[in-house]
Amino acid sequence: MSEKSSNVVWHKPTVHREDREQRNHHKAMVLWFTGLSASGKSTLAHALEDRLHKMGVHTFVLDGDNVRHGLCSDLGFSLEDREENLRRIGEVAKLMLETGVMVLTAFISPMRKDRESVRSLFPHGDFVEIFCDTSLEVCESRDPKGLYKRARAGEIPEFTGISSPYEPPVNPELRCPTGEESVERNVDMVIELLQKRGTLAL
Ligand code: ADX
Repeated sequence: MSEKSSNVVWHKPTVHREDREQRNHHKAMVLWFTGLSASGKSTLAHALEDRLHKMGVHTFVLDGDNVRHGLCSDLGFSLEDREENLRRIGEVAKLMLETGVMVLTAFISPMRKDRESVRSLFPHGDFVEIFCDTSLEVCESRDPKGLYKRARAGEIPEFTGISSPYEPPVNPELRCPTGEESVERNVDMVIELLQKRGTLAL
């Protein structure tokens, strides 16, 4: 991305992220869900949000299918466009983190280097990668939007897992067996991680 906004000076806020976290009684964090289409990213992110909301945690879900209707409606599915899609989401997540909320993102984010670029935007520990580990076979058998069927028929080019790559995380903070375990069990696993890290209490 070329830098065009050169004569712009950062304005320092007087209310800081820490102040907002104190007010919220919990820390802010980015929970980055990655996995194939239909692996369960959105389902898990929304079920987790539901649970956290009931616990009094301030949350927001950024979801691929929704963001692509607005902020990223000019982007397609080439690897280059996906990179830009994730760069924008990373920047949005960074702004949202400053508001003191728990940001949950559900994007395929297929390439390791793009996920690492997003990770590099955040201080160590503020970005947590969660791998929704559902096999291609299971995702394809679920096929809730009929997209795999159309991709196999050659109607959707560059479809992740079929004609475009997905690189599974090597060292995610958490691997959720979204192909085998229930949504509730996977929500429990994420909550356990957050509790272990002291994110939910301030
Ligand atoms: S990402 O690769 O840039 O992270 P993103 O999560 O925003 O993708 O969007 C994925 C969603 O777009 C899928 O869940 C699916 O519904 C839809 N989609 C449409 N075309 C494709 C495609 N070629 N590859 C993958 N998903 C696609």
